[in-house]
Amino acid sequence: MSSGRVDMKRVFIIVLDSMGVGAMPDAGLWQDEGSNTLGTIRKHPAFCCPNLTRLGLFNIEGVGGAVREPQGSFARLAERSMGKDTTTGHWEIAGLVSPQPMPTYPDGFPEEILEPFRRETGRGVLCNKPYSGTDVIRDYGREHRRTGDLIVYTSADSVFQIAAHEETVPVEELYRCCRIARRLLQGKHGVGRVIARPFEGEWPYRRTSRRHDFSLEPTGTTLLDCLSGDGLDVLSVGKIIDIFAERGITKYVRMNGNEDGMNKTIAYAREDFHGLCFTNLVDFDSEYGHRNDIAGYAAAMSAFDRQLGELLPLLKKEDLLILTADHGCDPGTPSTDHSREYVPMIAYGAPVKAGVDLGTRASFADISATVLEYLEADRRDTSGESFLPQILRDDVRLIGEAVKAREASYAPYSGFRVGAALLDSTGKVWRGCNIENSSYSVTNCAERTALFKAVSEGARDFAGIAVIGGRESLLPRCVPCGVCLQALSEFCSPEMPVYLGTPEQIEHFSLADLLPVSFGAADLAT
Ligand code: THU
Repeated sequence: MSSGRVDMKRVFIIVLDSMGVGAMPDAGLWQDEGSNTLGTIRKHPAFCCPNLTRLGLFNIEGVGGAVREPQGSFARLAERSMGKDTTTGHWEIAGLVSPQPMPTYPDGFPEEILEPFRRETGRGVLCNKPYSGTDVIRDYGREHRRTGDLIVYTSADSVFQIAAHEETVPVEELYRCCRIARRLLQGKHGVGRVIARPFEGEWPYRRTSRRHDFSLEPTGTTLLDCLSGDGLDVLSVGKIIDIFAERGITKYVRMNGNEDGMNKTIAYAREDFHGLCFTNLVDFDSEYGHRNDIAGYAAAMSAFDRQLGELLPLLKKEDLLILTADHGCDPGTPSTDHSREYVPMIAYGAPVKAGVDLGTRASFADISATVLEYLEADRRDTSGESFLPQILRDDVRLIGEAVKAREASYAPYSGFRVGAALLDSTGKVWRGCNIENSSYSVTNCAERTALFKAVSEGARDFAGIAVIGGRESLLPRCVPCGVCLQALSEFCSPEMPVYLGTPEQIEHFSLADLLPVSFGAADLAT
């Protein structure tokens, strides 16, 4: 018998930005065949990640190098959205799939955007093509200083960038122009970001630190909207706040590098909250992936692994940690762009089973569905299929199901409401409640309701049962009656676990603990 206390449910999602685990089958459409970000960095001598290894990073399908007895549960997730950028990846993790890629403008922005932009800003437009950010102010800066026209440019990404000298266009006015652009760039012209790029000084000029991004609002409901809408906490660490255009977030901190981001995540882990802490570690992508710096990427991953070692002991009884990524950016390929890759998913925590291999799953959105189910929030119209039933420990899952089963209890005579949840060998849970009758002895107990439902649908092998009950609040322990134990003994082994107690304090028994000897088929045969 064992037991433990339960705290308020918290989920930590940490996105290792760009840490893909191998090209997706459609990578050819993106010129990314053969990309494998983890595959490249793991070979470098600076790569040393004992914590990720013991949680199961290398047990993930297709990754190679499995350890025995990994401590987490794990999957490889495919991206269903038509993209490989940060925004699309994070939105999908949060249950919002983007079937259309975000628009890009290799030939510049069309007149249907520029005409109203000129009219509303009262300024002309220079450049209007893809350009390097430093070259564009060198080549157009003087004309901009002379005329006051705005330098509008883009890149291979879905961005509308406006450069302006701080003495020609004060920063506040530049931001106002960006907000005008942001309002115009919606629907089919919904670029990922509008970016203010102020610069200063004399030719060839230098950019200032007052860059500001105006992100596209998520185009549908996200995990963050669901959680905050249900009154739960949504804490953002790093650029999550920008990626979701501030929507659905109840508290945020920015970060200065991965180490600081992890320290801030660790600081949140020391606080009490109820809901989600969502962290993005961008350095992997911006500092190393895009710069094809294999050694730097490997060392950054090792540094993360050390800090992960600090976070893990802070996880409480009801905490769920999910590690994942948003796309790839293989530093070993000639391309410095993102790569269309699968991402890893590791789930870890006291409520999570060790070593469940979830194989390859169809969407990052399965993370969102799982978190919503775990935190019991309304999923509204978000995408994804929860893998919670597969990874949740049987005792936690069954006691939770028993609580739900009890809601249907029919006990007008005793007022004593009981719920039971019976797990069969296929992983299906059968719920049952007590059903009373005005002819009292006809009453059926919750355990037998669950058992008879299961058996009458063909189930014969069972792996565990949870029972809870009480008149109003739950009893510390509601023990199954002898009749129910006898009924269970017909189908269940003496070793089958029986979970009693409450969600806060689960007690473990076996069927034989409660019914050491019983009448059985063998007795009839004598
Ligand atoms: N009850 C159960 O549902 N399961 C048990 O194992 C013990 C008792 C119900 C039957 C009745 O509706 C109420 O609890 C009071 O006996």
